[in-house]
Amino acid sequence: MPFNQAQNFMKFFIDTANLAEIKEAHDLGILDGVTTNPSLMAKEGISGKDNIFRHYKAICDIVDGDVSAEVLSTDFAGMVREGEELAEIDEKIVVKIPMIKDGIKAIKYFTDKGIRTNCTLIFSAGQAILAAKAGAWYVSPFIGRIDDTGGDGLDLVEQIVAIYDNYDLGTQVLAASIRHTNHLIKCAELGADVVTCPLKVILDLIKHPLTDKGLEIFLNDAKKLA
Ligand code: E4P
Repeated sequence: MPFNQAQNFMKFFIDTANLAEIKEAHDLGILDGVTTNPSLMAKEGISGKDNIFRHYKAICDIVDGDVSAEVLSTDFAGMVREGEELAEIDEKIVVKIPMIKDGIKAIKYFTDKGIRTNCTLIFSAGQAILAAKAGAWYVSPFIGRIDDTGGDGLDLVEQIVAIYDNYDLGTQVLAASIRHTNHLIKCAELGADVVTCPLKVILDLIKHPLTDKGLEIFLNDAKKLA
């Protein structure tokens, strides 16, 4: 019988548009999805609609899970047009919509059409309530950016999880802007549905000096067993 991981265990998304990093995380066997944003796409030097769409397709071909693709428009008609095109690329695509007034309208529009959305740039519980009300599949509170301004991003994650737990909501809490392993570990304690983080944070989870020291001792003693 294969080992079955609990279906509701926190999912790991990687927050990058870099194909090599996505492949490395995928090859670890623990990757559940990818989030991107315009800054991450620009960092990879991807520009022009055709290249961007090809890049999203390449990401979808690597991962088994959801791939968030962000609209660039900020008006309702533009977001609807772009989102419908993005959703056509692959069934793994989740349309990423910013938390603005037309964004809420667009989330509701896509929800009614059965297209999944990730409401991004969430910095308050009120925004998370509104996004869920409109039917967002994911809401993305930005932990690190809140910390940068002197606040506590994890408090927001805790608040959103508590609010959603009061109801039978389909919306999942996707903790974003994760800077270090403590953010990720605390998100698991708080019951976030998903974390999205750079590859480094995932790889940093592996590290512990006592593991390295212990392995060195074992390998030295193993020589005596030959
Ligand atoms: C989420 O989807 C965003 O892409 C991301 O987590 C932003 O993180 P940053 O604050 O490190 O740019």
